[in-house]
Amino acid sequence: MAHPSPEKVPVKIFGSSEEASTFVAKEIAALIRSRQKQKKFCVLGLATGSTPTRVYAELIRMHRQEKLSFKNVYTFNLDEYYPMQPDALQSYVRFMHEYLFDHIDIPKKNIHMPDGTISRDKIPAFCNTYDKMIDELGGIDIQLLGIGRTGHIGFNEPGSSEKSTTRLITLDHITTMDAASDFFGEENVPKKALTMGVGTILKSRRIIMMAWGEGKAPIVQKAVEGIVTDQNPSSFLQLHSNTLVVLDEAASSELTKIKTPWLLDSLGHWSDKQIRKAVVWLCQKLGKPILKLTNNDYSEHGMGDIVTAFGSAYQVNIRIFNELQHTITGWPGGKPKADDSNRPERAKPFPKRVVIFSPHPDDDVISMGGTFLRLVDQGHEVHVAYQTSGNIAVFDDDVVRFADFVNDFSEQFGLAKMKSEQLFKNVLQSIKKKKPGQIDSPEVMMIKGLIRRGEAKAACRYVGIPEKNIHFLDMPFYETGLVKKKPLGETDIKIISDLLLKIKPHQIYAAGDLSDPHGTHRVCLSAIYKAIDRLKKNSWMKDCYVWLYRGAWQEWDIDQIEMAVPLSPEELLRKRRAIFKHQSQKDSALFPGTDAREFWVRAEDRNRATAKAYDQLGLAEYEAIEAFVRYKF
Ligand code: F6R
Repeated sequence: MAHPSPEKVPVKIFGSSEEASTFVAKEIAALIRSRQKQKKFCVLGLATGSTPTRVYAELIRMHRQEKLSFKNVYTFNLDEYYPMQPDALQSYVRFMHEYLFDHIDIPKKNIHMPDGTISRDKIPAFCNTYDKMIDELGGIDIQLLGIGRTGHIGFNEPGSSEKSTTRLITLDHITTMDAASDFFGEENVPKKALTMGVGTILKSRRIIMMAWGEGKAPIVQKAVEGIVTDQNPSSFLQLHSNTLVVLDEAASSELTKIKTPWLLDSLGHWSDKQIRKAVVWLCQKLGKPILKLTNNDYSEHGMGDIVTAFGSAYQVNIRIFNELQHTITGWPGGKPKADDSNRPERAKPFPKRVVIFSPHPDDDVISMGGTFLRLVDQGHEVHVAYQTSGNIAVFDDDVVRFADFVNDFSEQFGLAKMKSEQLFKNVLQSIKKKKPGQIDSPEVMMIKGLIRRGEAKAACRYVGIPEKNIHFLDMPFYETGLVKKKPLGETDIKIISDLLLKIKPHQIYAAGDLSDPHGTHRVCLSAIYKAIDRLKKNSWMKDCYVWLYRGAWQEWDIDQIEMAVPLSPEELLRKRRAIFKHQSQKDSALFPGTDAREFWVRAEDRNRATAKAYDQLGLAEYEAIEAFVRYKF
């Protein structure tokens, strides 16, 4: 039975956020140009945050290469923290200048932004004037929006009314947590912000809300398909007649038409992947193992076509059961001398040369520590390549502790005492002087990087690989000392391809985690993809299997998994010990932006959850499972 689409706002989904951003930039450019032809101006409502940056980059490119002029453009930004100095690192005024205004020809007088410096008593008048100015210019032609995890648009947090105007608001706890990494600690995030109201936004003639990444998928689903409620201000967009929601695939993954399309309409042709996904979904929905699904179960859930195509529920069940069964292997590097026709990895060659790429110096053990141990135990030549130094994620007091240790160490062993004493003093001084959000001194940054290096080496020693197989790549894109990184450059890609050329691996493991809050994993993965693309003509590269693991934030869906490596209770404990070597990260629960559990707890919960899901599907019952998806290039 076909059901009507539950989408209440038009949605456009793109393969990547780059393509989506280009689409949005083109619409803006078309408006600007058409108004120019009519000798008229246009008014844009602009957003900040990580979402619109590529739209701005594309507009700048069009300005430079396609003579797109912004002389006839007025802008109004959505929001600004309060209080906030315009030159502060986290200021949205600064953000807009860095990401857009400084690179285009917009007259300065046409730019409007909420002012985070005005005194409290002047706020109501300021906000009033802000809304009035928009009205006087004839209203906003196109309003760009991102969406926060709370469902906020602008900084209209849950509880904001449909009619709200520009005003001072108090930020939601989740929003302050998400902003914490930009402010180097949640305690430094301003509690308040100035924001255009929901009503102000809804007055715009056209609204484009964008969202990227799977982290946004649940709230996007609510915005598009959920009820209209002030508990999710983005749902008010359903009341607007000219709104478009622009998504990348990851952000669209919770929409009904993507997640369970068979509930909407008869699919006609089902791909193998869709069948697997639907069967797993059906089992989870009914709480039944695969082999117990009946013809009725399929028919009642819009999946009757599958049964028709296969002949009976039994035929479908057995096929999917076998497929999932074949993802399980205790031999991630391939089982030597075994029939490998139904195994995820090839038996030959044995042993294999393996490169594990780890974006930060602990993702290897956190995300695939059990598999890492197995690969080493089973005799493969395993290399680990730490892509970045991870130096921003070390607490200052750990730096002091280490510098102090070096000082005492030097004294005890009669080593260059003067130097270490001086170093200790410098470190103490620079940490004391540092304001929140300020970049560390080069010495402090270096020590932070070294602390993580030492921990990574200790973990590798524990797992059992020789030092010559540990590679610290220190990719330059990361080395800003800030949460904001440089774009991926040629040097970054070359570092990766040089290493691959040197090792010529049979297997590569990489973090396929696309939703880490700081985007580091995403950049690290794209460097690997680019390097592989350059090398793919080499015969050794053609023979190389690339396995993607997930970072600390998310796990693959069960139906996506192509290799499931079970861990015994003993192996899980060894994995935990390897994670424990990363002592500077033990307080990760205190880190901004992360959930309040330490990495090892999260890793174990996740690996146990995967094992439980396999068990509930009627497959073997394991203590824990690490999961991988193969990247085919
Ligand atoms: C920014 C703004 C916010 C963001 C939202 C998403 O001006 O008003 O609503 O759009 O918090 O932020 P990012 O894009 O960083 O995920």
